[in-house]
Amino acid sequence: MEYRAISTETLIDNSSTNFTLYVRVGNDLINYTKPGHEWSKDELNDLVGKGFEKIWIKDGDSNKYNNYIELNKLKQGARLLSPSERISSIQDVGMSFNKCIFESELTQEAMGQANFISDQLITTLLEDISSVQAIKGLASHDYYTYYHSVRVATYSTAIAITLGITDHIKLKEIALGGILHDIGKKDISMDIINKAGALTNEEWNLMKAHPEAGHEIVQDSELSHISQKIILSHHEKLDGSGYPFGLTKANIPDQVQIATVADIFDALTSSRSYQNQRPRFEALTLMKEKMVGDKLDLSFFNALVNCFKEKP
Ligand SMILES: [Fe+2]
Ligand SMILES: [Fe+2]
Repeated sequence: MEYRAISTETLIDNSSTNFTLYVRVGNDLINYTKPGHEWSKDELNDLVGKGFEKIWIKDGDSNKYNNYIELNKLKQGARLLSPSERISSIQDVGMSFNKCIFESELTQEAMGQANFISDQLITTLLEDISSVQAIKGLASHDYYTYYHSVRVATYSTAIAITLGITDHIKLKEIALGGILHDIGKKDISMDIINKAGALTNEEWNLMKAHPEAGHEIVQDSELSHISQKIILSHHEKLDGSGYPFGLTKANIPDQVQIATVADIFDALTSSRSYQNQRPRFEALTLMKEKMVGDKLDLSFFNALVNCFKEKP
């Protein structure tokens, strides 16, 4: 097994690490804490005082460690950052969070992180809706899938706020649904997800199964009905041309329709292996000309446009 050293100073008091940590004693690495360990200031000082300036993790836990660092950066710095800076920071936390859940399971702890990210997103956008513009649409295509979900959560929440929804619980259902909407892709190979050419029939069937696969992952979780519906139905279209069930407008909740608008907008404005990103205006024009009315709701589309209007 491969290990890597990290600086003990990167651990923060009052935080919990969801991976095993080891200390070096002589030539051996000794198991020091189990996943779920809560760190106190005294324990961290004691560790450094005893000369353990470095502590070790398994190489395979690197993404969990990165996620721990990003989350704590946001937790500690949120109050010092402007809303725009916070939105950018939330994108990085959301990316590392998604990377972790694509690699392992949607554990109780991961749900706690999704809740934290959603809360941050909602309070920041309620404070300054124009901070939504701080999202960079240009995340490299290797990371497209990981950044995509948190961007969809951000756009969906901003659309809902623009429509006048300010209730935290209602906004949270939308934000959480957005963060987890593509979780059903976690078991699909990245080669298929990022494939440059056309998908074979078999590959396309796998991709089309992701809403139901995602719903299966969350159906027994604490996630609300609406958040689960976003995962199951975000590829449905108003005219019945979507999947998996070909639902029509009357049977697609508004929150799901909002997530669909956000999902398509992000796909059009992002750089992926099989397309170059479009400027925002071009993407909105394309949506308006080709999708709004038949496939997407006009009022939710207009709310998205309004998110980007400069404040008077
Ligand atoms: Fe999807
Ligand atoms: Fe998506």
